[in-house]
Parts: sequence; structure tokens; C-alpha cells
Amino acid sequence: MISYEKNLFIIEMKHSSYVFTGGDTPWGVYWGEKLYGEELGYLVGKREHSSFDPDLNRHREEYGFWDSYNPLESCLKVNYPATRQLDMKFQDYTVQTEEGKETLTLRFRNSYSPLTAEVIYEVYPEFDIIGRSMRLVNEGDTVVIENLKSAAVSIPHQDKYRVRYLSGRWTGESHINDHYLTNGAFTIQSRTGNTGPHFNPAFALDNGKADEKSGNVWFGLLGYSGNWQITFERTTFQDVRVLGGISNFDFSYTLKAGESIRTPVMTVGFTTGGYGAMSRTLHAFENRHILPARKTGRVLYNSWEATLFDVRAESQKELAKRAAGMGVELFVIDDGWFGQRHSDKAGLGDWYVNRDKFPRGLGELITYVKELGMDFGIWVEPESVNPDSDLYRNHPNWVYRFENREPLEARNQYTLNLSKPEVKQLILDFMTKLLGENRDITFVKWDMNKTLTDVSAGNTETDKELWYRHVKTLYEIWAELRSRFPHVEFETCSGGGSRVDLGILRYADQCWPSDNTDAYSRLAIQEGFSYFYAPRIMTAWVTDASDGDGRKYERPYSYRFHSSMMGMLGIGADISRFSEETLEEFAGYIAEYKEIRETVQYGQQYRLSSLRESPLHAVEYVREDGEDIVIFTFHQGFCHDAVEPRVYPEGLEPDGVYQVEGMEEKLHGSTLMKAGLETGLGGDFDSRMFRIRRV
Ligand code: DGJ
Repeated sequence: MISYEKNLFIIEMKHSSYVFTGGDTPWGVYWGEKLYGEELGYLVGKREHSSFDPDLNRHREEYGFWDSYNPLESCLKVNYPATRQLDMKFQDYTVQTEEGKETLTLRFRNSYSPLTAEVIYEVYPEFDIIGRSMRLVNEGDTVVIENLKSAAVSIPHQDKYRVRYLSGRWTGESHINDHYLTNGAFTIQSRTGNTGPHFNPAFALDNGKADEKSGNVWFGLLGYSGNWQITFERTTFQDVRVLGGISNFDFSYTLKAGESIRTPVMTVGFTTGGYGAMSRTLHAFENRHILPARKTGRVLYNSWEATLFDVRAESQKELAKRAAGMGVELFVIDDGWFGQRHSDKAGLGDWYVNRDKFPRGLGELITYVKELGMDFGIWVEPESVNPDSDLYRNHPNWVYRFENREPLEARNQYTLNLSKPEVKQLILDFMTKLLGENRDITFVKWDMNKTLTDVSAGNTETDKELWYRHVKTLYEIWAELRSRFPHVEFETCSGGGSRVDLGILRYADQCWPSDNTDAYSRLAIQEGFSYFYAPRIMTAWVTDASDGDGRKYERPYSYRFHSSMMGMLGIGADISRFSEETLEEFAGYIAEYKEIRETVQYGQQYRLSSLRESPLHAVEYVREDGEDIVIFTFHQGFCHDAVEPRVYPEGLEPDGVYQVEGMEEKLHGSTLMKAGLETGLGGDFDSRMFRIRRV
């Protein structure tokens, strides 16, 4: 419920309250466990320290228009020809209610030129989550924006402030990091034009004592797939403010009369239940409010690691026949089906079917796959181009480039300037042709394999808008394709997990979290991923991943499957060389996965034990109705004399009675949760899946 009383805005959610002041510069009074927000007036008053700090409440500003004074990072800073400051006055507010959501909009108006800022709070009371954003509407003089943030939030005073966040790199994404705030600013960001592999736009903040099961955690995710920034500022007065939005780096945006711009949404939330509750809340929230649809994820086969660029009708048919025999539901061909794309050196951008590889067109393979009872999916990378392609030869000026230098080539490719209408049209046209002529394509893997560089179209006035325009156009293309082809599901991939955020996930059904498909490495990557993103989003393939870099990684198939069954199971191995026995083994695991996938994809996830703290890795999933439970356990190397680890389930009804598969006796939930289960793990890279049903 949202109310406004005695100059206080009070947002009451299921378990939490969020309270801030009204006025021209609203500031955060309280955010945390539920209380009587309307009583907090006694905390509101002028806070000043000296002529150096005349207004300490500005350290807790909810948004922050730069009006000539603001000692912290501000959310909006503009330039008019005659002045560089804003004079925003609070006008009014509205509250709108719809199913599961209330929206509070505060309106501010600039005093000297009609410019309206709508500071928006989309409140999801069931989830204790608020989506924060700002919309700027210009009806006056042309204004140049040089700093545009989504929101700021203040954290109540704590003894310590620990920021937990994800960082990594290609093939090593989503690793968990902790940073303790000292006085000053700490920033995680991307300046590579994409969400990026180095940091993910998400954080969890606590007092250093939260764990999986308990503790106050304030968390946030920015929904933006371009240059972004999340800054944590701890002042010398112990105020802590978190601010997120589009990066200040090389950014400016001109807003003319009649134009408007809306920031990305920064989703923030609070829980008393530690990191585990944070993740479960986010997973359920994403499934309900972010992802385009709720659909049971299909088991897919992807031929990339089996055939690389050598995608040919005949060999793909062979793979398809075997995949169908195993129970695969969706057969996806990857890079290499088009143009003269025989390696990563040529052909990217030439979106016609390669007739040497597909003499009778794609239709033949699609029909074959459909007759085998599977759906068909395809890979594309529309934003990029190889210099050795017809597209580039015909339109060298369609790529980002500075006039005085050749653009940087990485993976032998350049990036197309999406803000050019002809480029957007080209992408929409070829995708529409591909999906329109082949109505049986029901899955698209959209890849993007290069960091954005040389972001210029030769106009120093408007070039700084290009970073933003790239992302905006990308979202427009995805939205348009989804509306033209509602039966098609999309996967976001960027050389693995470089484009995973709540912005693209409004259009994507799932993502490819990493090119690292080693089942052991994946445990850490998947754990980090699970902090902020739902298992339904996370594709995980079982592959050969044994000698990719010339070394051998021995992982039994059981271990590989269990690791991949913790999200959206896929197969990426070269199944053409498999024996009948191995094919049968794969078929067995796939059948097992289909039995548990509803529990895994949409259930409540509990990280029972992490490799970061123990040799045992264990993750549990409880189906939404609480009737079906799955636990995956992993151990890497067992010494002869090691003590066999036990696993302790969570989230069961203490007085409910449960049947553990393979055990004779039925046990109460409290027994299972308190006494635990023997894992029976031993040897190298052992794993075990437990199935428990409520009786
Ligand atoms: C990077 C992706 O992450 C891989 O899965 C694969 O699609 C290649 N690109 C293809 O070039």
C-alpha cells in the first residue's frame, strides 16, 4: 500500500516498509523490516554540520537533480545553453493500481524551462520489490543530458556494509565477490557497450553477517544491456547510498522540445531471510513479472561444440536423428549455416543460406527435424559483421568507426551501427524473412561476440548518444520480432554470459550463461548466476568439454548431467560418435530431467552447500506446491579417509511426511532437515541426485 502523510511517502509491502520525504529534494528516511512508517516523522528534520555540509539530508536523496549543490553522485545533470543547473520543484503525485502492482509517480518541474521529471516507483508488494526509474519529458528549450541515472536508494545505518556482487570474464563469468565499503565510492560498471562479462549489474548488501538462511539483505539489479554503473557511496557521516543507471562515461543525450526519455529500471528489494530468500524472491519475481511468458523449457540439442562452423544438412540430420532418439525436444543449429561462414573469419552479415551446406535450403532439415518430433531453432548474430563479407563490402559505413582510424577487429568482426535506420531495417528484414519463410523455427539464439569499440558515426555532437541508441534499438528489434513471431522463443547469448540482465530478459526467455561447459567450472558460475537469476533462465549443456584446451578433464556423464540439470538442460556433445550404450545413458538422464524440470525450472531453490566453503556442493529445488523435491550433490575428490558428507534439506514442512527415493522408511520433514541424509559420495567427481516426495 502507498500513502502520503505529513510530508512522508510510505510504501508498505508484505514484509518491508520503504519511507521517504516529499518536497523538492525527497530523501530516504527508512527502508527495511516492516514498521509503522507514518510514525517516522520524528526522524525528519534539518541535518546540517557546517558551512561545508549545509544539508546532510542531501546525502540520502531519493533521486538527486543537480541544482548547483550536491556533494554526492547526482542522478540527473543537464546543460542548457544558458545554464548548467536544474531548479526542480515538486508538483504532484499519482498512484495507480493493477494486479500485483502499484505505481507511484512523483512529478517535478523545472522552474525556468518546461522540463518534467517523473520519478517512478513500481511496487510489487508480494515480493517486497520496487522497480525504480525516471522519465524525462521536455516541452521547453533543447537540453543536453550529461548524467542520467535510474534511481538512488539509502541503506539504514549498519556497523559494516558488505557488497556482494558478480564479476568474471569470458568463460569465467558470475563469480561471487565481497567488498566492504569504507568511506568513499565503490563502482561496478560496464564500459563495453554491453552488459559485459566483467561485472553483472546486480548487488546484495548486508552488514557482513547475512548467510544463506538469515540476515537483512538489501539487493538490486539494473535492467540495462549497455554501459551501466552502480555506485555505492559511503559518506564520512556514515550515510550509504546506492545509485544505478546508465554510465556517465562518454554519455550525453540531447532532448528537444516534444521528446522524452525513460531510464532503465533499477529493481530493488529487501529481505530478512539472507541470500537464500533474496534469490528465491528474485526467481519468483522474474518468472512472474520480467520474463515474457511462463513456458516449460524444452530440452535442446545444440550442434556448436560438435561441428563448429561445419554445419551441413547431412551431418546435422545425423545429429538430429540421434538427438531425437535420446528424447531431445528442440534441435538448434549454431553458427555457420549462412553466407561463406566456414570459420570466424568471413561471412558474418551475409544472412542467406549457404547452398553448399544446405543444397535444398533450410526447409529440408527443418522438415526432417519436425518429422523426428522435435522443434527447430537457429543461431544468429545480427549486430556484427566480418570485414570479409558482402554486407561490409557494400556498406563499409554501416559499422561504428572513427574517421581517422580503422575500427578494432576482435574475433575478426566489427559492430554495426544499430542507430542507423537502414541497419535496423536490414536486421528486421532478414529476421522476418528467416522466421516468416520458416514458420517451424520456434527458437532463436541471438549472439553478440564482440565488445563495442569505435563507437562513432563521425559526428562529435551526437556520437555520445550511440551507446544508448544501440541498446534502445536492440530492444526495439527484439520487441518487434516477438510481436511478429509470438510462437518463437529467444535466447540471449553474448559469447556466453555477457548479456544477462533484467533489461534483455524482458524479451528473452532464457540465456546462455557461459561458453565454459565444463561441468565442474559450471558449479561456481551457476552458483553466482543463481544469486540473481532464475533457473528457468539458465541454459546448461552436457558437452564433451574434456580436451578443449589440450588438457583432459575427466568428468563422468552422471556428474555432467547433474550439473546441467540444475537449470535448463541441453546437450552439446558430439553425439555422432557415441555408442548405443552412451546414447541410452543420455536418454535415461533426459527422461529423468523431464520428470523433475517443473520443480527445477519454477521451484524454490536452496543453496545447501557451496564449494566456496565446503568440498560438498549441494543445491535443492522444492516444487511450488511443496510436493516434489530434488537435491543435487557433488564432490570433486574424495580421499580414502575422508568423512562422507551429509546434506541437510531445507524448505520442507516439519510435520509433513516424505519419501526419499531408494529408502524404505518414510520420514518427517523435521527429521530430514535436522538429521540430514548421507550423500554416499565417494571417489573423484562423484555426484548424486536425490528425489523426495511428500506423501
Ligand atoms: C559464442 C557462443 O557463446 C557459442 O555458444 C557459439 O554460439 C559461438 N559464439 C558461435 O560463434
